[in-house]
Amino acid sequence: MESNANLLEKLSLSGHGHGHGHSHGHGQCCDHEHEPDVHIEPYTSSNKFADRSKFKVEFINDQFVELDGIRYVKYKDETQMPLIIDLITRDLSEPYSVYTYRYFIHNWPHLCFLAMDNEECVGAIVCKLDRYKESLRGYIAMLAVHEKCRRKKIGSNLVTLAIKAMIEHDADEVVLETEITNKSALNLYENLGFVRDKRLYRYYLNGVEAFRLKLWLN
Ligand SMILES: CC(C)(COP(=O)(O)OP(=O)(O)OC[C@H]1O[C@@H](n2cnc3c(N)ncnc32)[C@H](O)[C@@H]1OP(=O)(O)O)[C@@H](O)C(=O)NCCC(=O)NCCS
Repeated sequence: MESNANLLEKLSLSGHGHGHGHSHGHGQCCDHEHEPDVHIEPYTSSNKFADRSKFKVEFINDQFVELDGIRYVKYKDETQMPLIIDLITRDLSEPYSVYTYRYFIHNWPHLCFLAMDNEECVGAIVCKLDRYKESLRGYIAMLAVHEKCRRKKIGSNLVTLAIKAMIEHDADEVVLETEITNKSALNLYENLGFVRDKRLYRYYLNGVEAFRLKLWLN
């Protein structure tokens, strides 16, 4: 999850006409670029996205996919915003304002997915994609699965869908931050081929450190 300190900077920039495509050099990356790298691993063949033909999750008619009774849908319109906010707010150490959700979802609606159990939203992922140095960098800003539905691969499927969408938009890499104590998230992402790229000190307002995880796509 993105830290609020970084978001504040990003949102103030987007409010001055630096929205989609202009966050290069700001936000989650530049604040920490000079922190020491503690763990860098090269690209490995364990990267599950190296072979793009192996995606399990595919949309039917570009609309939805249903797996184990859960329907995965693309973000459609503002009526879904409260569902996403309610779900993600449950797990946040740093609650986001509605403007934060709008910043991501309005700029990159094609990188937001919901997992629906009938009418109930039980999972959501919110991302962005923009240029960083020479790369087109995907960024997973928020991911949550309802407590009662965890450990059924809903989180992994949402991440897979988001990465697939990023690949369709020519992403070179995907990054995210998560608290170093968040074992579930670390396991989930590392299972999908992400590696620990950096350790970010005092990243969150609560003082907890973060790992930046990274997946190379080519
Ligand atoms: C992290 C989170 C999204 C995982 O969602 P999920 O649907 O339960 O994850 P999956 O079922 O896809 O799990 C995939 C793998 O992640 C790991 N994992 C998931 N939950 C775990 C847990 N409680 N303990 C240890 N490993 C866990 C496992 O390796 C798991 O594979 P396995 O079940 O075959 O062992 C969910 O726990 C959550 O919403 N947490 C609160 C919000 C959060 O931390 N978001 C991530 C911020 S970056």
